[in-house]
Amino acid sequence: MKFLVTGGAGFIGSQLALQLERAGHEVCVVDDFSSASQDNLRGFRGALIRQDISQSFPIPEDLNAIFHQAAITDPRYPNGEELIEKNVGGFQKLLDHCEKKRVPLIYASTAGLYGNGPVPMEEDQSKECTTAYARSKFRMDELAEHYREKVFSVGLRYFNVFGPNEAHKGRPASMIYHLWKQMREGKRPRIFKWGEQVRDFIYVKDVVRANLCALTGKPGIYNVGTGVGTSFNDLVVILNRVMGTQLEPDYFEMPFSKDTYQGHTLASTLRAEKGLGFKAEWGLERAITDYLATLQYPHSKAEDGRE
Ligand SMILES: NC(=O)c1ccc[n+]([C@@H]2O[C@H](COP(=O)([O-])OP(=O)(O)OC[C@H]3O[C@@H](n4cnc5c(N)ncnc54)[C@H](O)[C@@H]3O)[C@@H](O)[C@H]2O)c1
Repeated sequence: MKFLVTGGAGFIGSQLALQLERAGHEVCVVDDFSSASQDNLRGFRGALIRQDISQSFPIPEDLNAIFHQAAITDPRYPNGEELIEKNVGGFQKLLDHCEKKRVPLIYASTAGLYGNGPVPMEEDQSKECTTAYARSKFRMDELAEHYREKVFSVGLRYFNVFGPNEAHKGRPASMIYHLWKQMREGKRPRIFKWGEQVRDFIYVKDVVRANLCALTGKPGIYNVGTGVGTSFNDLVVILNRVMGTQLEPDYFEMPFSKDTYQGHTLASTLRAEKGLGFKAEWGLERAITDYLATLQYPHSKAEDGRE
């Protein structure tokens, strides 16, 4: 089969593109390299188009599906209007193309749009979009619904994704990556007071599999999380165990307003189980062990499973 992966030089997109290629598919990547790394695509043999997808460009013909991962992904991006214009504008162009050419569209949404709503977060609960980033993704979900009869689409609301190929993201990379960086230098892991915030951390390998499940699933919008919440304090305990360290948390005052910072994320996973046949398989400690092995030996086979 032939696929286009937008944002394919980014974190999740590169893992997906490489996995599709390993499975024997023809894969084309489009990325404007606004927050990507060429290194993420080491070993990739498919076509690579350097292009901002919010501008018109010749989309390859005869696609079996488009996996849309491209987006400005920094929730604290300084220009909210530009973010919405690019994220929503690019998506609109893909929807129009998919309608015209009858191509299925699988795209990345976010759990960020639930804000500080009740947990476990269910797809239909009310949304609390406190950032331009969350608003852009909610608008994408609304557009996908609007095109429901015309375009087969699956929206995947990722929770907190971590894993190999995220280092280029800098500040918006996962907390697991940042804490590991501090701890490997012998520094105490810095977390917000008093470490009781909770996240539904999901490994990128599970997220890639959710995208593959979407190919044969029912159209709609789905949470992609594990259904297991971990507090920042517990995360530090796990990291200490995996790294063989004994570093106590270094608590500091949270610099963000409680209204805009998500204190607790947790996915309800029922809809994804029923509609996509997707259930996360990686427990947090096993996933972190797998991930940290790739950070210690960055050019080893373990990094991406390639032989
Ligand atoms: N990582 C997470 O925890 C998480 C959580 C929820 C949702 N998401 C979503 O998953 C998708 C992938 O995120 P990621 O974590 O891999 O981030 P990332 O920043 O590594 O990947 C995004 C990629 O899109 C590219 N890009 C941005 N705007 C573009 C444009 N207009 N045209 C072409 N390329 C463009 C960037 O260069 C980058 O390679 C995004 O849509 C993001 O919103 C990620």
